[in-house]
Amino acid sequence: FKKITTHRLQEMKATGEKIAMLTAYDYSMARILDASGIDVILVGDSASNVMAGNETTLPITLDHMIWHATSVVKAVHRALVVVDVPFGSYQGNSSEALRSSIRIMKESGAHAVKMEGGIEIKESISRVLSAGIPVMGHLGLTPQSIYKFGTYSVRAKEEVEAEKLKSDAQILQDIGCFGIVLEKIPASLAKEVSESLHIPIIGIGAGPDVDGQVLVVHDMLGITQDFKPRFLRQYADLNKIIGEATTNFIKDIRSKDFPNKEESY
Ligand code: KIV
Ligand code: NA
Repeated sequence: FKKITTHRLQEMKATGEKIAMLTAYDYSMARILDASGIDVILVGDSASNVMAGNETTLPITLDHMIWHATSVVKAVHRALVVVDVPFGSYQGNSSEALRSSIRIMKESGAHAVKMEGGIEIKESISRVLSAGIPVMGHLGLTPQSIYKFGTYSVRAKEEVEAEKLKSDAQILQDIGCFGIVLEKIPASLAKEVSESLHIPIIGIGAGPDVDGQVLVVHDMLGITQDFKPRFLRQYADLNKIIGEATTNFIKDIRSKDFPNKEESY
């Protein structure tokens, strides 16, 4: 196999091969995803929700992100590992953005970082790029701005926000981002952005006419409960499988079936 690079992703867009991306936050999961052939692993700040049980992505720290990223990188042989720069460690201060991104790259061994926003964080992204660190953009429903939006509903349905998103996407490409995640926006808008740019557009709730798709692995595997947006396709029901396994384990202990002779020394 050949390692996936940011250049390979550009090539995939050019040749029309769709890019498959999933999140992972730990060694064991990352190992399974990488061995299964996933192209990109995102160490998402969604770790704040699915790992730590927070309602938003705001509380997770740079140290937490580096801990998760370090665990993931150890497991990965082929995939490109992208790490979210967490809330409060890059916005409005390009030297802090650079410092945070360098820490992620140096301490975890990841291959790229991702930051949320367009023109507002242009200086931060440019400064990180100037250090030779590949940056992925993220536009649309950017969860670090949830208190600005006030709702998790679809973004950029109106003309003004759609125009800003298109302009932001163009800026991100122009300053040198290697790709952009578009989250929860109309499929027609995502298609337009993907067609007008040469860098890969990875969608989540952005319809089929983009260059790849990303999901949170716990959602895709059916571990997450009470979260069923229409963009989510569930590929397994691990909630049920893990629950049944746990019930059987408890039953076998109570009935003194486990451990048996062969399982003892
Ligand atoms: O943190 C995350 O999981 C993400 C993806 C949903 C794109 O940013
Ligand atoms: Na994220």
